[in-house]
Amino acid sequence: MVKYVVKKGDKYWPSAEMKKIAWVSDEKIYAKALKNPVKFWEGLADEGIDWDKKWDVGYEEKLPYFKWFKGGKLNFSYNCLDRHLDERGDKIALTFVPEPVGEKVVKLTYKELHEKVCKFANVLQGLGVKKGDVVSIYLPMVPEAVIAMLACTRIGAIHSVVFSAFAVDALKKRIEDGKAKVLITADGYYRRGKKVVLIDKAIEGSKGTTIKKILVVNRIGKKVSGRKFLDFNKELEKADAECKAVSMKSEDPMFILYTSGTTGKPKGVIHDTGGYAVQAYWTAKWDFNLHDDDVMWCTADVGWITGHTYVFYGPLLNGSSTLIYEGSPDFPDTSRWWKIIEKNKVTAFYTAPTAIRMFMRNPEKMIKGCDLSSLRVLGSVGEPIDNDAWNWYFEKVGGGRCPIIDTWWQTETGGTLITALPGIGPFIPTVAGKSFPGVDHIIVDHKGKEKKKGELGFLVQKSPFAPGMLHGVYKNHKKYVETYWRFKKYYDTSDGAILNKEGFIRITGRTDDVMKVAGHRLATAELEDSINGHKKVNECAVVPIPHEVKGQVPVAFVVLSSGSGNDGGEALKKDIIMHVDKTLGPTARPAMIYYVKDLPKTRSGKIMRRILKSLLAKEEPKGLMTLVNPSSVEEIKGIVESSVGKEKGNVKKKVVKDKKKVVESKK
Ligand code: WT7
Repeated sequence: MVKYVVKKGDKYWPSAEMKKIAWVSDEKIYAKALKNPVKFWEGLADEGIDWDKKWDVGYEEKLPYFKWFKGGKLNFSYNCLDRHLDERGDKIALTFVPEPVGEKVVKLTYKELHEKVCKFANVLQGLGVKKGDVVSIYLPMVPEAVIAMLACTRIGAIHSVVFSAFAVDALKKRIEDGKAKVLITADGYYRRGKKVVLIDKAIEGSKGTTIKKILVVNRIGKKVSGRKFLDFNKELEKADAECKAVSMKSEDPMFILYTSGTTGKPKGVIHDTGGYAVQAYWTAKWDFNLHDDDVMWCTADVGWITGHTYVFYGPLLNGSSTLIYEGSPDFPDTSRWWKIIEKNKVTAFYTAPTAIRMFMRNPEKMIKGCDLSSLRVLGSVGEPIDNDAWNWYFEKVGGGRCPIIDTWWQTETGGTLITALPGIGPFIPTVAGKSFPGVDHIIVDHKGKEKKKGELGFLVQKSPFAPGMLHGVYKNHKKYVETYWRFKKYYDTSDGAILNKEGFIRITGRTDDVMKVAGHRLATAELEDSINGHKKVNECAVVPIPHEVKGQVPVAFVVLSSGSGNDGGEALKKDIIMHVDKTLGPTARPAMIYYVKDLPKTRSGKIMRRILKSLLAKEEPKGLMTLVNPSSVEEIKGIVESSVGKEKGNVKKKVVKDKKKVVESKK
């Protein structure tokens, strides 16, 4: 079996075999790229993407906005499909593994996918969808997701994908923001052996909005009738197979994807066409070392940026094969993923630490019997990966043979920006790696002053900003400026990090009121808005606590409305949790609810979540002087102490006094 890594000292490095097959193996590339990043990216744009018209200006910056490849024209779907047809038309572009074990796996060649995309693009045009219109997509992991997305890019429509587990309100808000006329959804999907109905949420969420037509993928055989509805595949079959790819400007918006920030309403992050294409192509190629014989499996859902860039777009731009799986990782048991890898000879596998931690708790025999020798590169994304999870992933999944690339990036960055490259390394647990060639990150203090190497601070990006970076917040200039440009000349990532002398970056996590629950990004404010919307709640505060599998989970402190008393009992707690489920979706469910009389507040009325966090961690809260109601802290302390540890999977912090350090221990 080929070994792609070797251990030297305490670090892993690419082996000679890996160096041989790697697209990039000389670390000089970093210095070379940074000498003239614009020239570097222009070279990549030229080599990686087919342009209808070459750009006039490589990079133009008028902060807080910037443009890449200005004047250039291209079509994104052409780059994912048409240009591969001569050379690899009969190659499998997409493999779809349905959840039901006996159901036939669907494989689409580049030719077949191209035909479906053209046909569906004609369906959309027939419904009046034009260049620049927003189309809402609310689909589970089915092939129609990529067909719909690519069809939009073919005609220059802007897709806005909404995660299928999101609730009605979330869908509605996103439809309303984009004013979509067409919604693409499914009757449902399979999850843990059961049919989950999606169409009801889709109907409810589009009620009273701009949606005129709903295209429905028939997945679970649920009858849907009414003039508003069309059957996705029946319409597709009827349509013409010829569809000209519309030539788009490099800086034309290609898609919007909503993500959570510090304030309540999710922001529509805008990605353009040319810059995004360049970054998706090259990061997928270099990070996962994609070649013609590669099969990539990224386990992310299409509702997230990872699902856009590394499930579909990166591999297809590269002419690779990509795989999607409909269902749950533990159905019918926890060997499912590993069997999929074995059966489909997956070579590049990309998942999140939360999934790894889930598998770590399950019997090892589930993975032992599976042949994972096809794997070459393993990726991790979404949150910092801890030592234990890294080692388990490396040994049990990679058999100690494969590099782990810990890729740091965000919805806003479009593609990975910090990682080790498989042919260069090193691969170090808990260290994400270096900034991608041509990208420069530094660490600054709260005033934007650069910190010394090795010091913790705010992770920011320097100009020129990577080509895949966002190009604004949909219809909200103010939010764009406030959220990302507080340091004026630097892009603010909202993450904390340490950068050492060799250029390696360790990410420590978000510095704003955003938490990562099982890799999903959730804002404190979004959760609080939801809970405050419950009729028996007067006000609340939400803070994250560490969790063994999910990384973090939300905990809510709730003040009940007058007349409801101070203790609503277990039934009301359940009701509040279900209210969150209904408004935001199941991932947002609070793991624990505490009834309190009062929340610690400053004189100006700001809730001090920091104090609540300290109390949950059993640490002495600081800064009580600024509070208008310090007595609230004592009350909450008592409530928390009498119940800490009751939450499922909660990691308790234990202070080891003699060593004077905090260690995490599992309950
Ligand atoms: C936030 C962005 C990137 C696509 C999926 C998540 C955290 C992401 C890592 C990593 C440590 C990471 C950051 C970032 N994050 N990757 N490898 N190591 N933290 O995208 O939902 O926009 O979340 O995820 O905190 O800001 P997202």
